Order: sequence, then structure tokens, then C-alpha cells
Amino acid sequence: MSIEFTVEPNQNPASDARIEEIFADPGFGNYFTDHMATVDWEGTYHDGGQWKNARITAYGPLSLDPAAAVFHYGQEVFEGIKAYRHSDGSIWAFRPEVNAVRLQNSARRLALPELPEEIFLESVKQLVSIDQKWIPTGEGESLYIRPFMIATEAYLGVRPSHQVKYMVIASPVGNYFGTPKPVDIWLSTNYARAGVGGTGAAKCGGNYAASMIAQLEGEEQGCQQVIFKDPNRDDAIEELGGMNVFYVFGKENKVVTPELTGTILEGVTRKSLLQLAEDRGMTVEERKFTLTEWREGVANGDITEVFACGTAAVVSPVGKLKAADFEIPSATGEEPGEISMALREELVGIQTGKIEDRHGWLTRLA
Ligand SMILES: Cc1ncc(COP(=O)(O)O)c(C=O)c1O
Repeated sequence: MSIEFTVEPNQNPASDARIEEIFADPGFGNYFTDHMATVDWEGTYHDGGQWKNARITAYGPLSLDPAAAVFHYGQEVFEGIKAYRHSDGSIWAFRPEVNAVRLQNSARRLALPELPEEIFLESVKQLVSIDQKWIPTGEGESLYIRPFMIATEAYLGVRPSHQVKYMVIASPVGNYFGTPKPVDIWLSTNYARAGVGGTGAAKCGGNYAASMIAQLEGEEQGCQQVIFKDPNRDDAIEELGGMNVFYVFGKENKVVTPELTGTILEGVTRKSLLQLAEDRGMTVEERKFTLTEWREGVANGDITEVFACGTAAVVSPVGKLKAADFEIPSATGEEPGEISMALREELVGIQTGKIEDRHGWLTRLA
């Protein structure tokens, strides 16, 4: 299903000087481009409803009824993608079709309508095309694209909303954690972000709301990130608050990442790194991985590197694991691991057009 977007250009766009100023230190998610994409939906979960009023307009505040379902029952899902400008000026997104399918899966879990893949791709293309000058090109920089969907019907009964807005906004971003160096992570034992039958595999706001108290706890312990485990599966490691995790077994030339059990998010970066590791002749394993295996593997030298991965930070080396009553030391000391950095470099190389896109992962946006 395709849909025509109307375009109402921003009459007061940011000046080149202002964009230059923002590019000097974009950070992550601080600034937004001149436009946004919106598509409305009306219908019921069962009749499939109708997508309409696709438009590009000036970026700006929304006017919503205070009774809108999203404010009360959290019916919301979102995505995160990056667009890169290549040296010839063309603009590309990394595997956006995978994000489109994940948004559909998340929407289904939250009883929201499934946005057709073509509308998803077109919305991203339209927004990036009109806001092209907002793509920074420095090392590690890109345009972060945030598609999301909210329940807008003014109705306080608990049932799926009959009105929904799908929107896309974009933000020029730099490196998420600056220059890659191992970040210490906090093991959350007081809080879980997901459970069997819950929404862990969906990218919905509620999961992130549930992880923030654990994040604060971690920050009090000097950790930038939090990792969650499943106490009901022999302390199986699941994922970080916003990233998947990998363990490198150097001597065996192997990487291990927790299997997809329905409680973790299927990361696009995770999926891509599994492929790149396999391309390098490494053994890749998606399986249950426990805290005990982590502790013993670092102690006996089998685990030579640990890294986290996601769209925002790409690959982020993990240092120490800190918990309330124990610590697992960094597998690589203060330095990032060699394989982690090689995988990072290769993935970023493909995304930025410096390394051949042999798997056809890039989609041209403009
Ligand atoms: C909870 C969680 N896990 C994993 C990821 C990594 O997913 P991706 O590689 O698609 O960005 C993210 C980030 O989007 C996330 O929020």
C-alpha cells in the first residue's frame, strides 16, 4: 500500500549558521530538524482501519486531548534508525526495512495498527529528503531518525484506541558515548524490564519507563548502563536497558549472544554483527548465557571481550560488571577489545559507504 505525502515546508527553518552551531557539538537527541512526518489512522484493531492524511509539516508541538489513550495506558511504540551521507553526497539508511517489520511486530503486541512497510519507508525518505542539510558528516555522526506511533483517541475505557498517529522526527547526532572505551555496567537485581509473556520483545515506551529506576541505581554506582538478567532461568543474561550484549571467546574464535526468548529486543545491530562475525569465519552462538558463565569465563580467560551493541552507540565495549555484592572485572582492562573494535569499524564502514555493502543492507533515501 502506498500513500502520497503532502508537503508544507517550514516557513521559518533554522539558518545555516544555527545548524553549523548545532553540528559543533550535536550530542544525542538534543536538536531536531525543521520538519516532521505524520500519518493518521482511524479504525479498529479488527477491521484494519485506514491510514490517511500523510504529510510533511514544520516540526512543532502537538495538540492532543488530555484524555488521549497514550497518556493513560501507554499505547505507544517506536523505532530508531540512522541515515548517513556518503562522500558522493548521497544519503542512505541502514536496514530500514528491518525496523519497519519490527515496528509492525511491536504494534501488534500493543494492539496498535501495523503500518505498511511502504508507508514507513516513504515517511523516512520524505523527511530525510527535505531535511538533508541536517545530516552531519563528522566521524561517528549521522541523522538519527525516530519513527513512533501513539494512541490519540480521547477515551478512558481500557481498549485499543480507534485513533492513532504515526510520526517521524529526526535529530543530528554524534557518538553516543564519545570515543569508544569500556563502560562499566550495573547488574540490576531489584528490577526487571521484561518477563515471560510481557512486552520485552516490543520497542514500546513502557519498557524504557520500567528501566529508568534501574538506570538511576546504576548511575549511583558509577555505571553508565544497566544490564538485566532473568532470575527464573539460572540468571540468564538478557540485555542492557537499550542495547544487546555479546561475549567474545577469543581462543575459540567465537561470539555468543543471548538467544531471542521473547523477553529481549531483536536488535538490528545484533543481527548485523552476527552476520559480520560469521563472515569472518567466527563461530556464532545464540543461546542461553548465564551470569556464572560470564564470571567463570573472564576468570579463566575464555571470555576475552564483552561488548554491547545498538543503533545509537553501534558497538560499545563493556568494562566491569558491578553488582550489589560482587564484581566481574573487565575482560580487556581499560582498553576496548580488538574484535569488538574490528566489528565496529566494519559495520560503521558499511553504513558510511567506506566498505562495500556486500549484504545489500543500505537503502538510498536521497
Ligand atoms: C532494549 C534494547 N535492546 C537492544 C537494542 C538494540 O537494537 P538496534 O540494534 O536495533 O538499535 C535497543 C535499541 O534500539 C534497545 O532499546
